[in-house]
Amino acid sequence: MCGIVGYVGPRESQDILVAGLARLEYRGYDSAGIAVIDENGSLGMRKRAGKLARLREALETDPIGRGTTGIGHTRWATHGGPTDENAHPHLADDGRLAVIHNGIIENFAELKRELVAEGVEFLSETDTEVAAALIARAYRANDGDLVAAFRAVVHRLEGAFTLLATHEDHPGLVVGARRNSPLVIGLGEGENFLGSDVAAFVEHTRHALAIGQDEIVAITPDSVTVTDFDGNPAEPQPFEVSWDASAADKGGWSSFMAKEVSEEPEAVANTVRGRIHDGQIVIPELEGLDDLFTGIDRIVILACGTAYYSGLVGKYAIERWARIPTDVELAHEFRYRDPIVDASTLVVSISQSGETMDTLMAVKEAARLGAKTLSICNTQGATIPRESDAIVYTHAGPEVAVASTKAFVAQITALYLLALHVGRVRGSLDAASAADSIEQLEELPEKIQWILDNEQERTEQLAHWMADTRSVLFLGRHVGYPIALEGALKLKEISYIHAEGFAAGELKHGPIALIEPGQPVFVVVPSPRGAATMHAKVISNIEEIRARGARVIAIAEQGDSAVMPSADEVLRIPLASPLFEPILAVVPLHIFAMGLATAKGLDVDQPRNLAKSVTVE
Ligand code: F6R
Repeated sequence: MCGIVGYVGPRESQDILVAGLARLEYRGYDSAGIAVIDENGSLGMRKRAGKLARLREALETDPIGRGTTGIGHTRWATHGGPTDENAHPHLADDGRLAVIHNGIIENFAELKRELVAEGVEFLSETDTEVAAALIARAYRANDGDLVAAFRAVVHRLEGAFTLLATHEDHPGLVVGARRNSPLVIGLGEGENFLGSDVAAFVEHTRHALAIGQDEIVAITPDSVTVTDFDGNPAEPQPFEVSWDASAADKGGWSSFMAKEVSEEPEAVANTVRGRIHDGQIVIPELEGLDDLFTGIDRIVILACGTAYYSGLVGKYAIERWARIPTDVELAHEFRYRDPIVDASTLVVSISQSGETMDTLMAVKEAARLGAKTLSICNTQGATIPRESDAIVYTHAGPEVAVASTKAFVAQITALYLLALHVGRVRGSLDAASAADSIEQLEELPEKIQWILDNEQERTEQLAHWMADTRSVLFLGRHVGYPIALEGALKLKEISYIHAEGFAAGELKHGPIALIEPGQPVFVVVPSPRGAATMHAKVISNIEEIRARGARVIAIAEQGDSAVMPSADEVLRIPLASPLFEPILAVVPLHIFAMGLATAKGLDVDQPRNLAKSVTVE
C-alpha cells in the first residue's frame, strides 16, 4: 500500500529514487512521483497517474534538474482516485516543501476544514495534502525547523502514516515519521536512504535500521537522527538484509510470479534450514522462550488472505503434534468482536510483509488483553514482528508479485516447525512421530521440484484451454480445504474469474446447486494410503458432481488409481503423509492461476485494484 523512498548523498537522486520505486511498485501502482532539490536549490517535482513507466516518460520529456536530495512515491489510492493531481508528492509552502505519505489520516476532513478556514487552497482530494499544509504551517511557526514542524504535526494526526518531506531551504535533509505504517533506514557511506521496506535501497546497502513506532527520523548524507514524537532520542534497531538485490530481480523469468513459483522448493528448504539439530526441531529464535508454550491452554492464529489459509493448515499440525486447541481467525474480524484472550493464550500472527494493518492491529489488541504473541513473518525489520514477543522468520526471500505463492508454502513450513517445536517442549510429541515428520519436511523441496518438472507444462496447457472459463470451483477436505480456498483466491485475484473454494463435505448443504454441465471443479484428493476414509468420501463427492455434469480436475498422489475413472483430468503430486500434502497440492493451483491469467494476457504481477502490502484497515 504505497511505496516510499528517500535519498540524501552525493549521487544523482532521480535515478536512485526511480530505481527504488521500481522495486517498491508491488506496493501500489496507481500513480508515481518524485521530488528533488536540484543543484540550484529549487524543488522540482514530477508525478503521473498510472504505472511507473508513465512517470519515467514524463521525466524523459520534461526532466527535473540534477540534484542529490529527493523523495519518491508509488501509490495505492485511498483518498481520491488515481489522477495526476492526487499522485504524490504534494507541495506546500509555495511549492518549496514536498511531502509523500503512506497510510490514512483518519481526521483529515476536520483538519482540512481548519486549514480551509485559514485560506489554504487544496489541489487534490488526498489526506496527504492536508498533512503537507500542516507541516508547512508548523515549519513557518518553528522558524524553518523541519524536524520541529514534524513534531508539532504528528500529534495532530490520527490513523496510520509514514510521512516523508524535503524542503528547498534544506538540501541534504529528508525528514520522516511513522505510526502504524512501515519505514526503514538504509545506511550508506556518505549517503543514507529511507524506504517502506529494504527493497527500496538494497542494491546500494544491506545495512539497515528499523524505526520504532511513533518515531521521527532525519537523514543527511552523514547522519541519522531518530527521536520519539516528543524529541527524546530513540534507538533504531540495526539489522543486515539477508538477501541481495538480485534476489528481487526477475532474473530472466517472464514475471515475478513465475520466478516465485519456481522458488517454492527453495522457500521451504530455506525455512527448514538451520532448524533441525540431532534429529530434533530447534528454532534458534525461540531459545529461552519455552514459557511462551508451557503456560498456555490455547493458540489463536491471526492473519489475512493467503496467510490466513496457511494458518488454517497450521491448525491441523499444531493440534496433532502440540495437542493445544487452536483457533484461526481473520485478523480484521478478531479485533472488533471483544475477543476472549488472556495470558494463557498464545496468539500467532502470520504475515509475509509483516505490515498488514489488520493483522498488526489485531496483534496489538491481543497484547493489550495480556496474550503472548509470536509472529511468523518473511520481512526483516517489519512492524508486526517488532510488536510481538517472539518471531519465527520464513526464509522465502523477497516476494514481489502481488499474489503470494512461495511465502504461502514457507508459512505452512514455519507453522509445522513451530508445531513440532511446541510438541517437543510440551512433551506431547513422541519421538517416532517427530522423526517421521522431520523426514517428511526435509523431503518436501524435492517433491515440490518434481511437480514443477513434471506437471507444470500440463497444468499450464490446461489453463490455456480454460482461458474463457467464467467460473471455477475448488473442493477439499481436512488440510485440502484451505488449499481449495487458496486455489480459488489465487485464481480470482490474478485472472478476475469467479472462483469459490468449498469444504467437500459442505457441498450437499448448498453449493452443489452451482454445478451444471461443464462446470470446472478442482478437487484436492487426500491420499488413499494415509487417509483412506477421507479418500473414499472425496471420491464419492467427485461422483456426485460428475453426475451433475461437472468437469473434474483432480489433484491426486501418484499411483492413486481410484481417481482415474472419476476425474476428467488428474494432476499428480508425489506421495506424502496426509499432513504434508497441502504444501504439494497447492503448487499446481498456483501454476494454474498463473497460467490462466497469462493466457488471458493479464499482468500476473500487478493485478488490478490490489497492492501487496495492505497497510490500511
Ligand atoms: C493473496 C495475498 C494476500 C495476502 C494478505 C496478507 O495472494 O497475497 O491475500 O496474503 O494480504 O498479507 P501479509 O501476508 O503480507 O500479511
